[in-house]
Amino acid sequence: MGFFDNMNMPVTPPDGRVEGVAKVTGKGKYAAEYTVENVCYAVLVGSTVPAGSIKSIDLSTAKQVQGVLDIITHQHKPVVPGLSDENKIKEARFGLPVFHTDKIYFKGQPIAMVIAETLEDATYAASLVSAQYDTTAFNIDFETAHPNVPLSPAGKERGSMDAWKDAPFTIESEYNIAHEVHNPMEMHATIAHWVSDNRLKLYDKNQGVNNVQRTFSRLWSIPSENIEVFSEFVGGGFGSGLRVWPHALAAVMGAKQVNRPVKLMLTRPQMFMAVGYRPASWQWIKIGATADGQFTGVHHQAKHSTSVYENFGDGITRVTRLIYSFPNLKTEASIVPLNMSTPTWMRGPGDCTGDFAVESAIDELSYKLKMDPVALRLKNLAIEKDPESGKPWSTNFLNECVERGAAKIQWKNRKPVPGQLSEGDWKIGYGMAVGMWNAGRGNAGAGIVMEKNGTITVQTAMTDIGTGTGTAMQNIAHESTGITKNKIKIELGNSNLPAAPSQGGSTGLSSISGAVVATCNALKSKLASYAALQNDAYKQVKPEEVLLSDTGISLKTPGNQAISYAELWEKNNLSVVEVEASSGPGAERQQYAFCSSAAHFCKVRVHTKTGKVKIERMICVADGGKIVSEKAAANQMSGAAVGGIGMALMEEQAVDLKTGSLVGNDLAGYHFAVNADAPVIEVEFIGKPDPNINPSGSKGLGEVGIIGCAAAIANAIYNATGRRLRDLPMTPDKVLLAKVSG
Ligand code: MOS
Repeated sequence: MGFFDNMNMPVTPPDGRVEGVAKVTGKGKYAAEYTVENVCYAVLVGSTVPAGSIKSIDLSTAKQVQGVLDIITHQHKPVVPGLSDENKIKEARFGLPVFHTDKIYFKGQPIAMVIAETLEDATYAASLVSAQYDTTAFNIDFETAHPNVPLSPAGKERGSMDAWKDAPFTIESEYNIAHEVHNPMEMHATIAHWVSDNRLKLYDKNQGVNNVQRTFSRLWSIPSENIEVFSEFVGGGFGSGLRVWPHALAAVMGAKQVNRPVKLMLTRPQMFMAVGYRPASWQWIKIGATADGQFTGVHHQAKHSTSVYENFGDGITRVTRLIYSFPNLKTEASIVPLNMSTPTWMRGPGDCTGDFAVESAIDELSYKLKMDPVALRLKNLAIEKDPESGKPWSTNFLNECVERGAAKIQWKNRKPVPGQLSEGDWKIGYGMAVGMWNAGRGNAGAGIVMEKNGTITVQTAMTDIGTGTGTAMQNIAHESTGITKNKIKIELGNSNLPAAPSQGGSTGLSSISGAVVATCNALKSKLASYAALQNDAYKQVKPEEVLLSDTGISLKTPGNQAISYAELWEKNNLSVVEVEASSGPGAERQQYAFCSSAAHFCKVRVHTKTGKVKIERMICVADGGKIVSEKAAANQMSGAAVGGIGMALMEEQAVDLKTGSLVGNDLAGYHFAVNADAPVIEVEFIGKPDPNINPSGSKGLGEVGIIGCAAAIANAIYNATGRRLRDLPMTPDKVLLAKVSG
């Protein structure tokens, strides 16, 4: 602890990250980097076939390797109480109860785990484990599998499909997106330590320590408070840390088995099949409009992959129901089982996928209508109320995002006819798209420990997955108390601290900010109650009447009531003052709908001979309510946009249809956008606080940084070349082969 602390800097950097020093000096530890006494190492062995069952496993040579302590298989394992029979497994909804049966669902599924004194011993021994299988037919080909899976309604139909069947203008297209993999910098890892028979301590990479705590509490039938989870520094999650995955359970089982702390870290290639991914998807969408560009209806169908052992639904058509006022709407979806591990939420999950189709189709429609795509959107945005719930938006400034983005990129320089701008072999084009995300909020807790010298430590169990939550908490505590930032420390990512939701779905700050405000108020009240023992002016004052400084307490009302902390502490014989409070959504959710949104604009160059796409400018104007910490918020948005560039142009997990293997499952084979692929992302915020969502007015960012990026890029490529790309990623081969239509 204590690494979330920028106080040791000679000068506190303006709006700098509280964890910045720890991060750049390497003092901040990822899960696998903790030192635990007497630890041993676990390495997973994966199935070499994609479907069937295990006939036999040969452990004889592996067991002879020096330092091997034990090898877990489905035939040799500790009993996990919460997974001890089929009913319990069903209830636990754990997905893949690792080492449970001889059944094989995908290639790479863990069939054994070697535990040894050193990582090297375990790795070598794992390489010597071999198995015989009864293989069965498998399917890993989304493209051929999805046509056989029927669609079902996804949400209630609005209006009727008949009402717009004669729409004067319609567009109808299909879109495909490849499997994409989170690939965070930090590999998932768990150090599992049974401190006693029913007390478990975990250092684990995840996006929510309380979720991990709850999951293991259920699996092992021990109280949550007996489980401590540490996840102080997280090297990126992108959704992959929102669940507890089989490797973490394997580590805990291993630690039980050998009665020693066990460290298990996934390798990069293992990560590709161990912690989810964005499922491959197919979409068909039809949109109708009047000649002046009023949308009359939409019909959106979406299918995406899942595993054969678990149903994962990504919610691809959700976004279609959200952004625009379609008077008639029908959305349908289905999931397609494949012999792969279960996919999960990834970077703007569902909406990101659906938005690519909707925002591409609207662009296609704009050319048909000969109408500016900016004007077409502005005409149809559901800016007043949520078309799904009918409730008024608490705030929705997506129209302003669009207008500001258009001005910033100088949209007027865009040519309405594709292929008109070029420089040498490069074609130049402009594109735009919008994105939206339901702004959620969870119940979160925070605590403050105050010392006599006026230093406060603000605490929460919430993890900071790299978004700058700690920094934002410091800013909010500073604004709420008046204490200077260099006297505010942050502690987080630890289940011993006040409970908080997982960090995901753009709800982190929206949830924790209310708790920090509430806790600051609790601190003021508590200090005032001590002060009241000395000075009647403090009796029954409200928190908003109390002023705190670096040295003492006073009241807003004039008069001589200032009392130093030193005096308060001495008079009351205090060591520290501790307060805790929580905050969550309430009646405002009945009255209003909440959304964050963004408009993405880009200018691209497309090389006519090689098909290479270069993003020359990328602009994101976002409405995330109040921006608590501008630099961290802008970092998050530009990071999301870089993820969007990867999604648009290069990210694809290829599979080998003959063997069921992943292809190129490492950082050499799986390309994502790096600095060379991205311009400096230009981020702007509307910055208007939402008065209803929470005490901070912050609606949340993250998802809207990527939702819309891929369509903006595809639309710009079309504007540059007249080639409509409907399959992601838009690699150079696809760009060259697409036919010119504009
Ligand atoms: Mo995310 S997919 O909001 O971790």
